[in-house]
Amino acid sequence: MNLEILVNSGAFDRPSDVLIFFGRFHPLIVHLPIGFLVLAIIAQFSVRWPKFQPLDAYIYYLWGLGALSALATVVCGYFLSLSGDYDEDTLFWHKWSGIAVFLFSLTCFYFTNKKSKLSYFTKWPLLITVTGLLIYTGHLGGNLTHGSTYLLEYAPNPIRGLAGMPPKTKPRKKVILLDSADVFLDVVLPIMNSKCTSCHNDGKKKADLLLTSHSSIMKGGENGEVVIAGSPEASELFRRIILPENHDDFMPSEGKRPLSDEEVDLLEWWIMSGAPSKGFVTQLDPEKRITATASSYFGLDKNNLLNKKVSYPDAAIVDSLRSQGFVINRLMKDNNYLEANYTLSEKAIETLELDLLLKLKEQLIWLNLGNSEVEDLHLEKIGQLENLIKLDLSRNAITDLGLKHLSKLTNLEYLNLYESQVSEGLLEVIPKMTRLQKIYLWKTKVQDTTIEQLSTMNKNLFVVFERDEVTGN
Ligand code: HEC
Repeated sequence: MNLEILVNSGAFDRPSDVLIFFGRFHPLIVHLPIGFLVLAIIAQFSVRWPKFQPLDAYIYYLWGLGALSALATVVCGYFLSLSGDYDEDTLFWHKWSGIAVFLFSLTCFYFTNKKSKLSYFTKWPLLITVTGLLIYTGHLGGNLTHGSTYLLEYAPNPIRGLAGMPPKTKPRKKVILLDSADVFLDVVLPIMNSKCTSCHNDGKKKADLLLTSHSSIMKGGENGEVVIAGSPEASELFRRIILPENHDDFMPSEGKRPLSDEEVDLLEWWIMSGAPSKGFVTQLDPEKRITATASSYFGLDKNNLLNKKVSYPDAAIVDSLRSQGFVINRLMKDNNYLEANYTLSEKAIETLELDLLLKLKEQLIWLNLGNSEVEDLHLEKIGQLENLIKLDLSRNAITDLGLKHLSKLTNLEYLNLYESQVSEGLLEVIPKMTRLQKIYLWKTKVQDTTIEQLSTMNKNLFVVFERDEVTGN
């Protein structure tokens, strides 16, 4: 085979597929010379003791196998290096120390072949050199694949210090409040670290692109900038993560786990916001466009309300509500959360009763006021029941005017407005209910376009706009 032709046959000066095919065996077969040579060194060392004397007969073969497999490894390694994806400096030293491993093991093979045996004075320097070269080559190889900081990333600080590395940076605290989340350190960098830096790091800088810090991301790769602040469409980095997965340019390449929709949305928003190197997510997003996505990304959208123990409800108030026609039930065995249901009552609801309900504000998480002649003015009181998770206001003549009082009900997961008069006013209120999962809008004044807008504003929201089979609403 003519190497020159193979090397230059690919488009854009890339080596041919055959070479890369063999090249990729390098990380696999590299374990053979390591195994043989380490065994040879141990055997050479231990024959001093009579017990291990019999090993002497094999040393010659071990060096031979070691040299042979080292040669194969060097050849494959050379093919792999042609792909040009590796840090040049490290590659240079890795390549030549690998070749030296081969030459020195060949020398040992040669000397052990001669019945003369290695003299004491050549044997030890040779053994020490081969051992040292093996360790050095292996270490550089590791750096090439995993980046130079990989090995000591988790080492204690004194050891990192010896290796000239800065002390470990404290890991970022887990984000428990969206207000304290930093756009770069808590959003962008963790995404890069989990999906991109395995190929775009100091040691393995694919396309000459480093994705390990803000400055390196902004610097770009071999084809220039990859992030154009303010314009996701013009940013190569963004283009590559939204391509179809089977596209050649798709990142992360090689079938690595792609970004989730949330991660893509977050990066898009970051670039759109000017790709800042720091800043609080909530401050950069006054219109709360990314709030729901970010909360869900940090796992903050899970409702912790129910883990909180609430006090026992005032029995007198529960009794008087019951006498007004409310059905009041305790919802949990080990907590005092309550549901209140007025649908069985014949009477219209009155402000007086709502005032009583407000006294159970802490405990009340489900409220059903379906078909109870609720009016807009009542919603002002209902809007103060901030622990509500489920609210049924179906079949009441309420309108957008009353609806606006509900915007503080941020714990709501279920809202039924079936057969009410609400319409576009929903767009003001619903996006604030970030935990809302299901809303019933069948037989309201809401237009299709409003429904579409709602669905894009709040991705987790399921809008029921037709007769629901199960509940009959
Ligand atoms: C499995 C290795 C691998 C992973 C993981 C990976 N990349 Fe790449 N990346 C490459 C290779 C190889 C190239 C060069 C070939 C090409 O342009 O497609 C490249 C090129 C790029 C380029 C083009 C740079 C330029 O200047 O041409 C961008 C942008 C990029 N990657 C972004 C990313 C992002 C963002 C991620 C994480 C979501 C990522 N990459 C993950 C291997 C990878």
